Amino acid sequence: MEHALDDSATGRLTRDGIRLHEPRDFAGMHAAGRVAAEILDRVAPHVFPGQTTGEIDRLITEWVEQAGATSATIGYRGYRHASCISVNHVVCHGIPGDKKLKDGDILNVDVTVIVDGWHGDTSRMYVAGKLSRKAERLVQVTHDALMVGIEAVRPGATFGDIGHAIQSFVEERKMSVVRDFCGHGLGQVFHAPPNVLHYGRAGSGARLEEGMFFTIEPMVNLGRAETKVLADDWTAVTRDKSLSAQFEHSVGVTPDGAEIFTLSPAGLFQPTHG
Ligand code: MF3
Ligand code: CO
Ligand code: CO
Repeated sequence: MEHALDDSATGRLTRDGIRLHEPRDFAGMHAAGRVAAEILDRVAPHVFPGQTTGEIDRLITEWVEQAGATSATIGYRGYRHASCISVNHVVCHGIPGDKKLKDGDILNVDVTVIVDGWHGDTSRMYVAGKLSRKAERLVQVTHDALMVGIEAVRPGATFGDIGHAIQSFVEERKMSVVRDFCGHGLGQVFHAPPNVLHYGRAGSGARLEEGMFFTIEPMVNLGRAETKVLADDWTAVTRDKSLSAQFEHSVGVTPDGAEIFTLSPAGLFQPTHG
């Protein structure tokens, strides 16, 4: 079998095709992740009833440019926006548009930027106006599910351990984990092996090694897990119309755990309830 020479990428590949990055590559991911997280920090004051998701995306487009970064989503498989904005029962890949947010709407804003060739991919939840009790619970459980997944990251653990940690945390709380979308390897490419499942059996899947970079981005539904994609070919919604939430971090495997590349510099990642 012939292998194409790839002399631009650093590190080497595991037999599952997962890139093991060099220690110096963490700095590139850290810089890209910080730009993405800072952009999400700036979104917060622009979320209110009457605001459109299109205006939020327009601001994000400006901020990406201001940061000297490139949007990874504009032009990606024909996608035309700098963010995905997924409101209420939209699970992911919501397309920003003219519709106005209403009081109590919850929304995920997902941004991926490229800085010096490295990808920073992160998303978090916001609320327009007043957060209902049931939405608050969904958002909190989804955030905590992501963090439980990240706590499972260390060399020697498996990807199944991450999925199992997330799934059991969510299902113990009578919510469901979306199966139709997953996290992904990233680095100098946007979507790379492996698929990072948010459900699974402990001990299954590839073994984590130092230098792997990937996202964890669980989507959690108040109702059933099933989704469908609308006719625009992007927007994924819950089949039962139940509320859905998502949080996403880009992480790297360190000698003793995980480095989170997309921490909020302003400490705004965890939803705050006022
Ligand atoms: N940022 C999303 C992810 O977490 C991917 C969005 S692709 C787009 O992987 F084209 F819809 F923007
Ligand atoms: Co992602
Ligand atoms: Co994303």
